[in-house]
Amino acid sequence: MINFSVLDKNRTLVNEWIADYFSKNQNKTELCRAIKYGVSNGGKRLRPYFVIELSKILKIPRSSYRQMSLAVEFIHCYSLIHDDLPSMDNDDFRRGKLAVHKKFKESTAILAGNSLYNMAVQLILDNKTSNDHKVKLDLLKMIAQNSGSEGLMLGQYYDLFYENKNTGIKNILNTYRLKTSKLFELSVAMPFILQGKNQKHIKDAKLYGRNFGLIYQIADDFSDLDKKFSETGKIPGKDEEKGKNTIISKVGRKSALNLCHNLAKEATKDNKIFGNNDYKFKDLIFSIVFKISN
Ligand code: IPE
Ligand code: IPE
Ligand code: MG
Ligand code: MG
Repeated sequence: MINFSVLDKNRTLVNEWIADYFSKNQNKTELCRAIKYGVSNGGKRLRPYFVIELSKILKIPRSSYRQMSLAVEFIHCYSLIHDDLPSMDNDDFRRGKLAVHKKFKESTAILAGNSLYNMAVQLILDNKTSNDHKVKLDLLKMIAQNSGSEGLMLGQYYDLFYENKNTGIKNILNTYRLKTSKLFELSVAMPFILQGKNQKHIKDAKLYGRNFGLIYQIADDFSDLDKKFSETGKIPGKDEEKGKNTIISKVGRKSALNLCHNLAKEATKDNKIFGNNDYKFKDLIFSIVFKISN
């Protein structure tokens, strides 16, 4: 979908951080090998992209945005490991390789996912993130809210609950807002929280993250219909096979695309939070919409 060359530089950086992290934090257990596999098996590193770019704008030290980037990517990887489990989407492949539960045992994949969440918390607690305890508490609060049973977990619950049921567009969008947008909201808001910015900034950041996530999930649904395994690293056609309710299955391709256009406009309308770098974030959101339509 999106032309990810714009993200290449940051992806390389994040991959270096990940390799460094595991060189220092690895033990010889199979659990640790599964954790490392679930993180190092590819991935666009899109959520850290937001953390890094916004941190640079806000002049946050690299050691600090490294911690936040790894934390959000670890939570994302954990969500993917669990998303692929037989009791969830039952996918054997992820990022072009065997899913963690196929490469290792299912129980190991569950434990690897859980471990990654704890690692994310530890990354934030580290003094490299910040010496300010209040700031770290605020970050952890948002992490817990956005990834827990009011956020990502609830989205995953609804995604499975609505399988093979007739539900409306409102419920589908709400599911997307939870299962996908919540981590983007977190990624965009974390640098602002670290800098102790006011609630208005954080609200604007969340709005961008929310709409970006919705568009991104719709783009992912288009990919599931239109792209090959060699392009996505995932088996295509799974949404229909599993009886998923998607925006496309509900309103059709044309309306889904129109919705993406409107969401992109709304997300970038009078958003000045990105300062002179506004164009980067506008480009990114519109380039995803453009890719779907071509
Ligand atoms: C996949 O996310 C799950 C969705 C929210 C659609 P990504 O497309 O960011 O997955 P990776 O990290 O690049 O594999
Ligand atoms: C995306 O779920 C959101 C999460 C993984 C939390 P999907 O099930 O729609 O994404 P893919 O297509 O498996 O990556
Ligand atoms: Mg899923
Ligand atoms: Mg899935």
